[in-house]
Order: sequence, then C-alpha cells, then structure tokens
Amino acid sequence: MKAVFLVGGLGTRLRPLTNKTPKPLVPVMGKALLEHNIDKLKFKGVDEIVLCTCYRPESFEEYFSENPSALPIRFVQEKTPLGTGGAIKNVEGFISDEPFLIFNADIISDVDVAEMLRFHEEKGADVTIASVYVDDPTPYGVIEHDENDYATAFKEKPKPSEVVSHYINAGIYIFNPEILEEIPAGRPVSVEREVFPRLLKGGKKLAVYKECSYWLDLGTVEKYLQVHQDIFAGKYLYEQLDFRNSAIIGLENAHVHAEAILRGPLWLGAGAQIEKGAVVGPNVIVGANSVVGEDCTIEHSILWESVKVEPASRIFDSVIMANCLVEEGSTVFRSAYSGEVPKDYAAV
Ligand code: GTP
Repeated sequence: MKAVFLVGGLGTRLRPLTNKTPKPLVPVMGKALLEHNIDKLKFKGVDEIVLCTCYRPESFEEYFSENPSALPIRFVQEKTPLGTGGAIKNVEGFISDEPFLIFNADIISDVDVAEMLRFHEEKGADVTIASVYVDDPTPYGVIEHDENDYATAFKEKPKPSEVVSHYINAGIYIFNPEILEEIPAGRPVSVEREVFPRLLKGGKKLAVYKECSYWLDLGTVEKYLQVHQDIFAGKYLYEQLDFRNSAIIGLENAHVHAEAILRGPLWLGAGAQIEKGAVVGPNVIVGANSVVGEDCTIEHSILWESVKVEPASRIFDSVIMANCLVEEGSTVFRSAYSGEVPKDYAAV
C-alpha cells in the first residue's frame, strides 16, 4: 500500500517556525514530525511513501538524506501549489490499483491505519475519512454522518449556530484509486471543500472512521507547544517515551553541571549542556548541542538544536529556534524566537 503525504503547504500560521523549515519537518523531541509519522507506518502494510512537495522541496530531500527513512520515499514536486486535492491528483501516476493512504503532514494522532483499512473494506467505501470528536468544531471542517457512519454533509468552519456534528476531518484518508478520476487536473483543488462534497453529490460512499483518541494538528505555535505538553503528560505516547513519572530523558548524552537543577518531565538532546546554577524544567526540551548558561531559568519551553542561552536568562512558554543566541540576562516569555529582528522592530 502507498501512503501519500501532503507536505507542500506554506505553514503560514506556524511562522516563524516555518520561515526556513516546512511544517512537516519541525522537530518534535529532536525528530521531524514527518519522520515520526512515516516510522509509525513501518509495520502497517505500507511499502512506499509519496511526498507531495511544493514549499521548500529541497528541505525534504536534504532531511531524508541525513536521516534515512524507515520506508522508501518518492518525491513529487509541484511547480505551483495545487492545493490538497490537486496534489493528490498530481501523484496519480505513482498510485497502484489498490486503496492508498493520504495524510495531511501536520497531524499527530493515534489513528491505527491498519484498523482504518479494515473498516474501509468492511464498509465497501470509495473513500474513508478519519474523524475526531472535538468540543468546539467551529475552526475545523465538520463531517455530518448517518447511523451507519457514512458521510452525509461537509461544513467548513461552521458558525456555532450551525453546529450539527462535533466530528471533524482529521486529515487522514483512504482512497480507492478510481476516485482520482473524479479530481480535476492541472489546477488548484481543495480535497476538503471541493472533492468530498462533489463525491457525495455523485453518490460515492464516504465512510467516517471515528476510532481516534488523540489528535492534534500542529498548525500554530500554541498547538506546537501543546503537543509537547501532551507528550509530557502521557496523553500521546511518542517514540515509546514515557514521561509520566516526571522522567528526565537523554541524561546519558548530556552534560549537566552538578550544581544545576533539573525538573522533569524534561528531554535533553545529545550533547545538550546545562551550566552551573541553571534551573531547567518542568516541561522543557533542550535540543541537541544546545547550551543553557549559568543561572538561567527555563520552564515549559522548547529549544531546538544548537541554541545558546547566555547566563542569567529566563525563558517561559516559548520556542527558541535552531542556532539562536539568547543574549545574557534576556527574558523570553510566550514567544517563538527566531533570532531574526522583526520587521516592525527594525523600522523603529
Ligand atoms: P497554513 O498556511 O498555516 O494554513 O498551513 P498549510 O499551508 O500547511 O495549510 P494546511 O494546514 O491547510 O494544509 C494541510 C496539509 O496539506 C499540510 O500538510 C500542507 O503541507 C498540505 N498542503 C496544503 N496545501 C498544499 C499544496 O498546495 N500542495 C501540497 N503538496 N500540499 C499542500
């Protein structure tokens, strides 16, 4: 079975984290989200990954040449963005004659795709859409369905008064290959707004798979921080890491001064360095080769790799991107710190 990942979006809502790194390659505990999602498919009957690239396509080839993938990858580049539906149509030539998987690449979830495929076959569906229950569906694409779990309507971002269903599109699909004939070629197409409503109208069977207990899209910086807090809290088991007893993971590869204080849950990348008097944690990730200087305090934050935090700095609820320097005595609070001078600041 092929698994297609839609990785070509600009990730505008996740800026500045996506200024240089496409959203599917942002690190989650030192590993690109996409690599994690591919690894999970290894024993699920998937034999090839098809990456639909567009924004910063070279980043994907570079990443996987340095971090070989668990499954063979085919890269298919769009010259101009084709949208989610257009990107799927664009890989038609690489799809075999069996059902295939499609993923939005900014999702982290515990959907079991082998179970989802069984459901797809049992339902005799043309398309199966994974769906998750959320309390407030208004920011999402909502799916209405009948008592047999076949979709009956789609509503994008409904107003509170229009909410009939709390099941949203989780961005994971199984398509029968014939469905590709229904997608127009050579122009941008949205799978959510155009393809699904059109299939429904044309009498196709769209099954709704609701077996998902953890789901988050990493669309914004708040959600990016949230997923790490969820991993620390044990709501999502990431790479078999269990932080539920306030574990500190990665100590054997890190250099921690005897007079530093570490508070779990905490993850330290290889070569991370914590200097004298620093207080680090809880809920902190210190990326590989990052240095936390003397007397710094860091809580509820994520440092990407090779960050240097100079002495007496304080960082709370923030993301510090790779290779940044946080100057001595700084306070960083609820920020995504890219090290670039913001445009409005530079204009002053
Ligand atoms: P925002 O700009 O913040 O909305 O993010 P985004 O561009 O990633 O859009 P969105 O979150 O709606 O995209 C969902 C998934 O589809 C992501 O995995 C995107 O990478 C992917 N995607 C969106 N548009 C395209 C496109 O035109 N081509 C390809 N290949 N993938 C796309």
